[in-house]
Amino acid sequence: MTGIEGKVVAITGASSGIGEATALLLAERGAKVVLGARRSDRLEALAARIEAAAGEVAYARTDVTRRADLAGLVELACERYGRLDVLVNNAGVGPISPLDDLRVEDWEQMIDVNLKGVLYGIAAALPVFRTQGFGQFVNTASTAAHRIVPNMSVYAGTKSAVRDISEGLRQEAGDTLRVTIISPGFTRTDFTESAANPLVKAQLTESRDKFAIPPDAIARAIAFAIEQPADVDVGEIIVRPTAQG
Ligand SMILES: NC(=O)c1ccc[n+]([C@@H]2O[C@H](COP(=O)([O-])OP(=O)(O)OC[C@H]3O[C@@H](n4cnc5c(N)ncnc54)[C@H](OP(=O)(O)O)[C@@H]3O)[C@@H](O)[C@H]2O)c1
Repeated sequence: MTGIEGKVVAITGASSGIGEATALLLAERGAKVVLGARRSDRLEALAARIEAAAGEVAYARTDVTRRADLAGLVELACERYGRLDVLVNNAGVGPISPLDDLRVEDWEQMIDVNLKGVLYGIAAALPVFRTQGFGQFVNTASTAAHRIVPNMSVYAGTKSAVRDISEGLRQEAGDTLRVTIISPGFTRTDFTESAANPLVKAQLTESRDKFAIPPDAIARAIAFAIEQPADVDVGEIIVRPTAQG
């Protein structure tokens, strides 16, 4: 199957920002979207919007730090629509701060959500993709994995790991599965809200308001990777504001 129409696409972190924009764009283009995030009230409202526009959608409260939740999301896709074509491992958090702040719980949260969450997604979907003989992972990294800057070391570490694991997965995947890394630059979402250090948060918010791109720009890149023919594997797309250094 090529293109987007009719594909079953599960998306984690679909309750806001890039995940929400991706769900809306793919549903508009005929995908059956299966949405996961913790804020199920937001998923319910998003599903209602998609259904009102004649789209097909299912959703389930999903915390990506719980392996069973990811398994449940993949199961929901398979039960409702008979298969899973794409898993977009998009959920992520960025409570960034200087290492001197010793915000160890934030470090753990970034590792649990950004890194282990992606691994749990792989663990849930890979056996399904193997049985089907097709499937695509779209894993969200970041420009932070390409250019390491102060205050972002743990966040960048999780995103670098996502890139490494995705590339390893691509090499192991063989000639039937596709693996795409999406590396967004500064994107206008709620992401900056989670920065705990007030100075860092103020800097981030200023930059975001000055030059961040809308989440739809990242959704279009994800759609591009999905719509390629089955023998075309888009390895990585970096999408950043023109003004980002
Ligand atoms: N915005 C940027 O500038 C930027 C740049 C590079 C990369 N990224 C990456 O892009 C991805 C999406 O972020 P965004 O910018 O769209 O930010 P966002 O609006 O804050 O969205 C983050 C999403 O992740 C979900 N999430 C957080 N913790 C979760 C958990 N434990 N289980 C399940 N879902 C969880 C949130 O949903 P709930 O709270 O409802 O669970 C939300 O839907 C992230 O991986 C982020 O690292 C963003």
